[in-house]
Amino acid sequence: MSFITSAALAETGYVVLPPHGDPIDPAEWHDLKYVGWRSSGVTRFAPLASYAGDIECNGFWNHTPPRTDKDGVWIESQTAKAPTLTRLAQEPGANVGRCRVIELQPNTYADAVYNLHQDDNNRLNDDGTGWVVRAWVNLTDDPDSLLILREDRFDPATEIRFPLAAGTRMIVDTQRFWHAVWHNGEAPRYSLITSLTSGPELDAYITAQGGDPHAASIELDQQLVEEAQTEMHRRIEERRRLFEAQGIVMEPPVDLY
Ligand SMILES: [Fe+2]
Repeated sequence: MSFITSAALAETGYVVLPPHGDPIDPAEWHDLKYVGWRSSGVTRFAPLASYAGDIECNGFWNHTPPRTDKDGVWIESQTAKAPTLTRLAQEPGANVGRCRVIELQPNTYADAVYNLHQDDNNRLNDDGTGWVVRAWVNLTDDPDSLLILREDRFDPATEIRFPLAAGTRMIVDTQRFWHAVWHNGEAPRYSLITSLTSGPELDAYITAQGGDPHAASIELDQQLVEEAQTEMHRRIEERRRLFEAQGIVMEPPVDLY
């Protein structure tokens, strides 16, 4: 398979963009209509673009006819409430697939490590077309929370961590990285997540924005990391036994959102 990928993401698989500086009215995310959706942690989603413009979050490949995560249809009743968020999602000029605001309740580092998953953005994507990646804009100010990325799900030595202050912007190949958020806060965290198609438009945007593929990772206490590893393996084994008792073969966690 040979997809069109972004040169800026080739080396590390991510870029951190300069933060969005202007405050955004929280009404833009609080006033949206949210739906429950399976995800990593306790979450709800407010879609801005979906398969057909309905307020739902299902993967485009689960609809009829199925398609990959491209050509999302903007939901007018939602975008009218969130003009800045809509503009931020469209700003790169790349094709947009799913676009939604995620609401995540506080959790622990161990929760996040257990929640690590790869996205499924490129299911049904045609060979020779653009690889789908994800753009994030953190909406709430969560400087003590971390986006966690791992090349290897079970190896914490491959982990990098980025803090999530208000306006933090990143573009990540979320099908390459195992990822989850440790939301170390008191109130829900809100973030804008947009599926973008790689290609000349995205490359030009990353270059113009000065995307950094070597942003500094936050260090964590080694004991915290080791305890989370132990807890992850304990929970996976617990889940495996539960599934086994029900006659179900457990699949690796692949994200559906
Ligand atoms: Fe994900």
